[in-house]
Amino acid sequence: MKIVVLTGAGISAESGVPTFRDADGLWEGHRVEEVATPEAYDMAPSTVHRFYDARRSALLMVQPNAAHHALARLEEALGDDLLVVTQNIDDLHERAGSRRVLHMHGELLSALCRACDGRVRWDSDLVDLPPCPGCGVTELRPDVVWFGEIPYGMDRISVELARADLFVSIGNSGAVYPAAGFVQQALRYGARTLELNLEPSDGTPWFHEARHGRASELVPHWVEELLGTAQSAS
Ligand code: APR
Repeated sequence: MKIVVLTGAGISAESGVPTFRDADGLWEGHRVEEVATPEAYDMAPSTVHRFYDARRSALLMVQPNAAHHALARLEEALGDDLLVVTQNIDDLHERAGSRRVLHMHGELLSALCRACDGRVRWDSDLVDLPPCPGCGVTELRPDVVWFGEIPYGMDRISVELARADLFVSIGNSGAVYPAAGFVQQALRYGARTLELNLEPSDGTPWFHEARHGRASELVPHWVEELLGTAQSAS
């Protein structure tokens, strides 16, 4: 059985990574347009750098939770039949042991050079404008996809959705496209669809089944259920 899992901010919430639409539409005290658009970066690069530098160093203080670990266990069992597509820019899936992870909105631990287009692993600050290790130019920006930019991996995601027997959305508001449209794409190709989220999302009507509660409880339970079924069916 081929499975595509889409994860959003809700899967990392219990690790202590704040979700986006929590406090009055503010993201750690900033409006999204102030820190997550190419226009914001052009107008005030140091504000944007400081924002992402703070989030990058905060990553060191958090750990994957039971939901990330459960998905890593599922990958151990299914191998290439599982792909995790994530909107999250943290590295908690990888730290839990997942390897087949597609970061459609980029990664905090990566920098993108605006001069040579190189992507380089980055775990320190960018605000002091360090040179690109590839070309030497001081044009490194956070390697995250901002509003108005095209997410990574869209072709591959479409192919994987077309092949999927099951599409599962975990911790997603269903409010941000293109990810919010994946459930409809999967349905068109004949996949079964399951939502695991704290509360009903904007996308709930599109799912065959929706379970509501904390990801740290719902995801391990679903994985055990699936692996139990898979074992008894073989
Ligand atoms: N368990 C499960 N779901 C949870 C939990 C939890 N413990 N805590 C919160 N949620 C749910 C919320 O109910 C909400 O539906 O996770 C969802 C998080 O929504 P958002 O914060 O909007 O995150 P997401 O859908 O991932 O946002 C998408 O928006 O700002 C951009 O690029 C950013 O990738 C991000 C995108």
